[in-house]
Amino acid sequence: MPRKLLIGGNHKAAGSLAAVDGVVKALNGMGEIPANAEVVIAPTALHVGRVREALRQDVGVAVQDIHTKKAMGAFTGSMTADLVKDFGGVSWVIIGHSERRTIWNETDAQTAEKIKAAQEAGFQVIFCIGETLPEREAGRTLEILYRQTKAVADSITKEAWKGIVVAYEPVWAIGTGKVATTEQAQEAHAALRKWLAENVSAEVAEETRIIYGGSVTAASAAGLISQPDIDGFLVGGASLKPEFVDIVNSAKHSQ
Ligand code: PGA
Repeated sequence: MPRKLLIGGNHKAAGSLAAVDGVVKALNGMGEIPANAEVVIAPTALHVGRVREALRQDVGVAVQDIHTKKAMGAFTGSMTADLVKDFGGVSWVIIGHSERRTIWNETDAQTAEKIKAAQEAGFQVIFCIGETLPEREAGRTLEILYRQTKAVADSITKEAWKGIVVAYEPVWAIGTGKVATTEQAQEAHAALRKWLAENVSAEVAEETRIIYGGSVTAASAAGLISQPDIDGFLVGGASLKPEFVDIVNSAKHSQ
């Protein structure tokens, strides 16, 4: 069974009302989503309700982060998995984005805790990993990716991988306009899949979707998606533009 592609849009804290409404309109009007792909967008918590009401039902909605504790409670400024579940309409959670890791100093252990909380509440997870530029230049890319992935692999069951999509997002490519080359991305994705085969199971390696993120545009999407181990994208800046529809349609170039 070929892996179903996932095209995700991460609005970060960058989506004005006009931009978010524009993307919803573009997605609603784009015609059929390619049959080999699913689409999910992650507006800010502020916009989730508005987006879910207006957006076509075959596009999923994600939140951009979740608290480490699952239950509702006294966590000012944060959202728990139970809170999001109670609100309804959200099926995905992004966890471990590099901005969470760098700006909020989120650790591997916290990322793993958040994944457990999200999964226990029934959410699907986009789990982000990626190396910084100094780490890449020091030849440590794979070591970093394996460390970040192991922290999660050690705390979940093999079965739980069914609800996880790994997003490889080199930190140096995020928001910089410097997209990884197709070779760099394919190499990292293939290495991760091999790591999953050796450290989790052959089945998990075969079935887990590994998507790429970092300055993806309509122009770079077709080349990246044609790589055998690239199963979709997590798109930041371009997910707030009508161009996002072209990125979704790049799924047609997958082999
Ligand atoms: P970008 O962001 O596409 O703006 O580089 C990607 C991401 O952070 O998920």
